[in-house]
Amino acid sequence: MKIFKGKKFDPKEEVQDVYGPPPFDAEEPVECVYGPPPDVEERIRKEAEEVQCVYGPPSWFGGVNIPPRLNGDPNAPTTPVYDKLYECYKSVRRRTDFIPKIALVLGSGLGAFADENVKAVDTIDYSEIEGFPVSTVPGHKGRFVFGYVGDVPVVVMQGRVHLYEGYPVTDVVLPVRLMTMLGAGAVILTNAAGGLNPSFSPGTIMLISDHVSSFVPNPLIGPNIDQLGTRFPDMSQVYDPALLDLVSGAAAEMQMYLRTGVYAQLTGPSFETPSEIRMLRQFGEGVDAVGMSTVVEAIAVHHAGARVCGLSCISNLAAGLSDTPLTHEEVQQTADRVGFAFRMLLERSIKAIGADLIL
Ligand code: HPA
Repeated sequence: MKIFKGKKFDPKEEVQDVYGPPPFDAEEPVECVYGPPPDVEERIRKEAEEVQCVYGPPSWFGGVNIPPRLNGDPNAPTTPVYDKLYECYKSVRRRTDFIPKIALVLGSGLGAFADENVKAVDTIDYSEIEGFPVSTVPGHKGRFVFGYVGDVPVVVMQGRVHLYEGYPVTDVVLPVRLMTMLGAGAVILTNAAGGLNPSFSPGTIMLISDHVSSFVPNPLIGPNIDQLGTRFPDMSQVYDPALLDLVSGAAAEMQMYLRTGVYAQLTGPSFETPSEIRMLRQFGEGVDAVGMSTVVEAIAVHHAGARVCGLSCISNLAAGLSDTPLTHEEVQQTADRVGFAFRMLLERSIKAIGADLIL
């Protein structure tokens, strides 16, 4: 492993381990100043000393030039899934050295947040990242937006890929893993969902307290990615209590009636049958919302040691609970209707999380 900070760098050399964008087009050896700016390095070093850092010390220290936010063993043997992820990581790092604190995944109809509430400094289309899964769903833009919400550095996914598009689950979770590798210590997952809880109506916003993953493939199946986390991660508290508190606090300040509940992911793309919905309602204390995303991402983020939070926009009553058939248009219309309140809640939550937590 090499670190190029302050060293002569021959661009014709192997550049595998470069952190930051190498000058691939340079003709002559150049003086390299890669690595995070010294003030960031100093701040993170200090934070890692001060707090029990879930990620371990940032790994760009000691000359090991690998992504800063790995929860596991950076020197573990690689696997094809990790190799692909690392290629995507390098591809993004060639474009930007932006270090996000919080990552955000915008679900169906909620993409306007990236346009309206983020002071963008850079965007990268998914199609520009080699090997990166690209969404085929109408209304999903398909790009990363890097920027600030207030003074909190964020990376936002405007559009995600779903299992029903035919991608393997390891591809579906690649983007959230990548965002934690880029530096995000907390990931906020959002979605549109069908409501099962009889007290929910379309437009309700639900903070996810737990999930049911039994109907979708587990993203950790296959050789464990030791760089990211442990083989058998505990899932008794996937959704981070500190984030739940901060988001609930933000909602209270807005006088928003935020509900809490259990979310189940099914593969889709067909909506559920009324019998399936009745079955979900009888599970445990009863599933409150159902959708086609989020859970596999939450598992992958939790495995990788970053904090997770999930918010559902209840866009419709689940199958059998209303007289009208379900349509994707209804999902989008409700998301449009509550979009403004949802965006306000996200903005306030991100500011609160950025101010209160060392990530
Ligand atoms: N079921 C599954 N996914 C959904 C629904 C639903 O009712 N509404 C929005 N996404």
